[in-house]
Amino acid sequence: MKILVTGGAGFIGSHVSKLLLDRGHEVTIVDDLSKGHRDLIDQRAKFVKVSLADENLPAVLAGHKAVIHMASLIEVGESVKNPAEFAENNIVGTVRLLEAMKKTGVKKIIFSSSACVYGIPKKLPILEEDPLGEQENPYGITKTTMEEFCKLYNKLFGFDVVILRYFNPYGPGELHNPETHAIPNFIKAVLEKKPLPLFWKGEQTRDFIYIDDLGEAHVLPLNLKGLHIYNVGTETGVTVMDAIKIIFDLVGYEVPIDDLGERKGDVPSLVASAEKIKKELGWEAKVDLEEGLKKTIDFFRSLPSSI
Ligand SMILES: NC(=O)c1ccc[n+]([C@@H]2O[C@H](COP(=O)([O-])OP(=O)(O)OC[C@H]3O[C@@H](n4cnc5c(N)ncnc54)[C@H](O)[C@@H]3O)[C@@H](O)[C@H]2O)c1
Repeated sequence: MKILVTGGAGFIGSHVSKLLLDRGHEVTIVDDLSKGHRDLIDQRAKFVKVSLADENLPAVLAGHKAVIHMASLIEVGESVKNPAEFAENNIVGTVRLLEAMKKTGVKKIIFSSSACVYGIPKKLPILEEDPLGEQENPYGITKTTMEEFCKLYNKLFGFDVVILRYFNPYGPGELHNPETHAIPNFIKAVLEKKPLPLFWKGEQTRDFIYIDDLGEAHVLPLNLKGLHIYNVGTETGVTVMDAIKIIFDLVGYEVPIDDLGERKGDVPSLVASAEKIKKELGWEAKVDLEEGLKKTIDFFRSLPSSI
């Protein structure tokens, strides 16, 4: 299938693009490189450096059968400082993309959403039909609103829409700047033998999903018709401190903890029910946390020290 991937120079988009290419799909990557890395782009993909706001987007889109939409600004703290930029880039950018798709007759979209749409869950594991929760920051509002626009284009214009709610992705290639995600920051601190920055004393529970397993969730629904929403998580909750202990075990030493106290807006526990995606698409998480962390540590070890 000829697929256009937005945000394909980013952490998740570059993995998904590679997986699609490995499976014989034809991939066009659209990314403005505002946050992504040219080095992460697979040579086999066609790359167009363009923003979702660019008037040439319909011309780039024409001829594709599906869009996997991952382009987004993602840093929660930045979204609090620059809400208008986030609303413009993420929400208006998504609407422009949907309009360009309508114009060119590309009516299939797989959208990267987040478990953050559930707010503070009332029970665990979280099911797709559980109510969405109040948002604590502009990034979360952009995700819930982007979901709503995708749903609307299903309702009004018959788009095939798959919304994937990721839990906590991690893995090789995670090079956000600034990096606010726990796993890469822990691994970098450990490899540099520096104090490990930790909020909430590591007591939060998370469902860490390895990047290759997450990638598969984008390939399986490509032929679905209609509107579908899936959680993508391992259904295994671990505390952040447990993840740190595995990292310490894997490298064979410990570093001191830099106790950063509490961070406003963090949810205490997030664990997915993935029953729906398992049952309907035959998806399953295959990489356990220890194996995934080992691969992620190997990636960060292999990076030149300048990065
Ligand atoms: N990483 C996570 O933990 C996580 C969790 C849940 C959901 N998500 C979602 O997954 C998607 C990918 O996240 P990621 O971690 O790979 O982020 P990333 O920052 O690594 O990648 C996003 C890419 O989108 C590009 N981009 C941003 N705005 C653009 C625009 N207007 N036009 C063209 N390109 C643009 C950036 O340059 C970047 O390459 C995002 O939609 C994010 O909200 C990520």
